[in-house]
Amino acid sequence: MLYKGFRKYIPFKPEHIPDRTWPSKTIDHAPIWCSVDLRDGNQALIDPMNLEEKLEYFNTLVKIGFKEIEVGFPSASETEYEILRTLIDRSMIPDDVTIQVLVQAREHLIKKTFEAIDGAKNVILHFYNSTSTLQRKVVFHAEMDGIIQIATDAAALIRKLSEPLIANGMNLRYEYSPESFSGTEMDNAALICQKVIETIGATPDQKIILNLPATVEGSMPNHYADQIEYFIRHLPSRNCAIISVHPHNDRGTGVATTEMALLAGAERVEGTLFGNGERTGNVDIVTVAMNMFTQGIDPELDFSHISDIKEMYERCTKMVVPPRQPYAGELVFTAFSGSHQDAINKGTQYMRESNTPFWEVPYLPIDPADLGREYEPIIRINSQSGKGGAAFVMQHHFGFNLPKNMQPDFGQLVQLETDKIGKEIEPERINTLFQQEYVDIAAPYKLLKHAFQETTNAEGHSQVTFSGTIQHTDTIFKVCGKGNGPIDAFFNAIKDEKMSHFTFMDYSSHAISDGSDSMGVAYIQLRDHRNEKIYWGVGTSHNINLAPLQAILSAINRSWIDRHEN
Ligand code: KIV
Ligand code: ZN
Repeated sequence: MLYKGFRKYIPFKPEHIPDRTWPSKTIDHAPIWCSVDLRDGNQALIDPMNLEEKLEYFNTLVKIGFKEIEVGFPSASETEYEILRTLIDRSMIPDDVTIQVLVQAREHLIKKTFEAIDGAKNVILHFYNSTSTLQRKVVFHAEMDGIIQIATDAAALIRKLSEPLIANGMNLRYEYSPESFSGTEMDNAALICQKVIETIGATPDQKIILNLPATVEGSMPNHYADQIEYFIRHLPSRNCAIISVHPHNDRGTGVATTEMALLAGAERVEGTLFGNGERTGNVDIVTVAMNMFTQGIDPELDFSHISDIKEMYERCTKMVVPPRQPYAGELVFTAFSGSHQDAINKGTQYMRESNTPFWEVPYLPIDPADLGREYEPIIRINSQSGKGGAAFVMQHHFGFNLPKNMQPDFGQLVQLETDKIGKEIEPERINTLFQQEYVDIAAPYKLLKHAFQETTNAEGHSQVTFSGTIQHTDTIFKVCGKGNGPIDAFFNAIKDEKMSHFTFMDYSSHAISDGSDSMGVAYIQLRDHRNEKIYWGVGTSHNINLAPLQAILSAINRSWIDRHEN
């Protein structure tokens, strides 16, 4: 018998708006952002931040570009009061930043909050009471009229207490949250907000922020968007309000909820860095902002040094940003899978060669450099990786551009190693494998010394003569050959030394570093007709003529080793 526990849950009842308009809209500008890290985020921590941590966090939020920051709940505790007073008394709040303080719609708490904000320049006073059907039933045992009364009493008191502060020059604005908005009947939500607008005296010039929380995310994001569209349409004094959303992430769709709410008309978003907050957290503002960035929209927040922000966040909150967290997680720009690596490899090559001004790399929705993550490995190698991955590592870490035909040969070798050790291998180890397998194969054949001579006839045709000394185990012998270039001459010279069974298949070369001390790399592919196998050899030398000779001998030595040792 399958478990039937699901039967005790009441499904969400969506708003019915068949003429909804939000699904055909697109996001084309950044909303007003408000960080609630220091309040909603902080109150959800196992160990809330201490004063120094909060101040450091506040400074980081300012640097990121937040212009509205909820700094706490000053009437709730001494530490909350202290952070606010420290920010004000130490003049730490830039003139273009507004601090926001939260307070329940209760008289004594409102009065204490007014004491706490004394001396601040720009303040949003954020008051709330809960309006949902569930809270009305099980917590307040009140009808909607009583809930509206709580909100309007608070609004009236706040309006009265504001007067002297505003007269003294404080830029004081108001925010009202019908807490658990998404669990409230929309007509009731619109009604209570309208009453608050009227009581507090909001106007088109002095708008109130109406913040509509998904205090507990209880529906699909499209249902929340419908609620926002419905609410906006049914709010009589819509022009006196800034519509703000405050999504939580209980269903794991906080980001989608926020994005759809923006389509539905929300103008402001409250959330936290990396989605810290009660239970599953608040909406992650980093993700929402960077999602905009990848659509060519300026998010007006700067996450171009995400690793520093993450370091500060983890240190101050003692929370951990998971490795798969969008944009910030350790692994989000890393491909292990072979086909992904191949496509990334081709994409970065396309970017280099085409000079496109756009970011066009498969499997990477954003350029890691835009988050300051350009030095991290995009491709890491384990047993899931393919031929392109090892080649990418050789190119990006060590400057070797392996010929396309050579990549499967080397990829196979790397795969054997990863299968053997059963875990990821580091770039250094990949390079060691490469060197051991293709470069450092100096036996049994070894070139001891050599010289080239070039002669050009009257028609301008030149011929190169190679003469050199080669050692084969204990035997040393001289070879000589002619050809139309150094490689041809060398190959002809050794052919006469019982090596006529090799055919020259492929050759390429390049320099590894720029400047006078650049090193040449040569890749040679030979076919050994004794077993019809293909052998690659690689030579590296500061002498541009020597690298291919070493590569040829390396391929020949590999063939010898293959026949004698395998
Ligand atoms: O989640 C919520 O409803 C809140 C309110 C106090 C805005 O944090
Ligand atoms: Zn919240």
